[in-house]
Parts: sequence; structure tokens; C-alpha cells
Amino acid sequence: MKELKISTTAVLYNNDELPADYGQLVEYAKSQIKRSYSPYSHFAVGAAALLSDGTIVGGSNQENAAYPSGLCAERTALFYAHSQYPDKAVKALAIACFTGGHFTKQPGAPCGNCRQVMVEFEHVADEPMAVILYGEEKTCVFKSSKDLLPLAFFAEAMEGEGTAI
Ligand code: THU
Repeated sequence: MKELKISTTAVLYNNDELPADYGQLVEYAKSQIKRSYSPYSHFAVGAAALLSDGTIVGGSNQENAAYPSGLCAERTALFYAHSQYPDKAVKALAIACFTGGHFTKQPGAPCGNCRQVMVEFEHVADEPMAVILYGEEKTCVFKSSKDLLPLAFFAEAMEGEGTAI
């Protein structure tokens, strides 16, 4: 028996320290809040994906009266990006959450389904996808979406070897 310790690394920034390209992507994610359709949760999420050619694709959460039919902002942006620009890697994805009339003070953490979609697109593109989680007080940056989902499930696991640990 051996204990397995799984750790991850992120960088916390004060918002005025954020590198300019990340700051610009955060502003784009924030601008998507107005397009959120969130009449049920009143929790609006905006996302912005920076593609390898510099294109920025936005997205927001889209809810539905049949709750599970809705989709998070991150996957709205990533699926749109991958459907319209299938050959472009997503270099960075910024996320901002808004509720009660203001952006959340702390960074919003993506749900597990969104993390799974991020890691697959990063894996097939074979280029790191940075994930930038905006908060009014500080912003948290993961250099790779894989840092947000240790022991992720990849297609290779279906080839008979399982997950490399
Ligand atoms: N939501 C996102 O858009 N992204 C996440 O990563 C977490 C949750 C949305 C889904 C739903 O519309 C609302 O936030 C409340 O869960």
C-alpha cells in the first residue's frame, strides 16, 4: 500500500498585476455577462476563449426550465470555438461570475463537466490551455486546464491500459 498525494499549482494575482493579455481576456469574459440567460439561478457566468490565431470567442451560461438542458458558459464558449475553428488551439480561457449585482469577490471555479471538456480540447490540441478565474479581489490562473483536473479521463484510457498514475 502506498499513499498517493496529488497536488496542483495555480498563480494568484492582484487584478492590477494580471498580464495585459490575460486582463484583456478577463474583460471580454466580463462583457459576456449581459448575454447570460440565467433566469433560474440568477448566477451569470461569462467566458472568453483566446484562440491560437488571436481570435477571441465569448460565451455565457444558458439555462432552461428543464434544468439539466442548460449549459455552462465555459462549454458554450469552448463548443462554439471548436465547432467554428476546429484547427485552432484554445490558448487561454477566462471566466467571470456575476450575482447580486456584482462580480464575485473570489474567483469562480469551473464545474467538473467543464473541466473535462477543457482537458480534452487541450489534449487534442497538444498545447496548454491556461484557465483564468476572475474575482473582484483576486484572479487565479492555472497554466494548464489539466492542473484543474488531476487524473482526468482521456480517450487513451479506453485502449486497455487505464489511467497512468
Ligand atoms: N455555471 C457556469 O456557467 N459555469 C460553471 O462552471 C459553474 C456553473 C452556471 C450553470 C448555471 O447556469 C449557473 O451557473 C448556476 O449553477
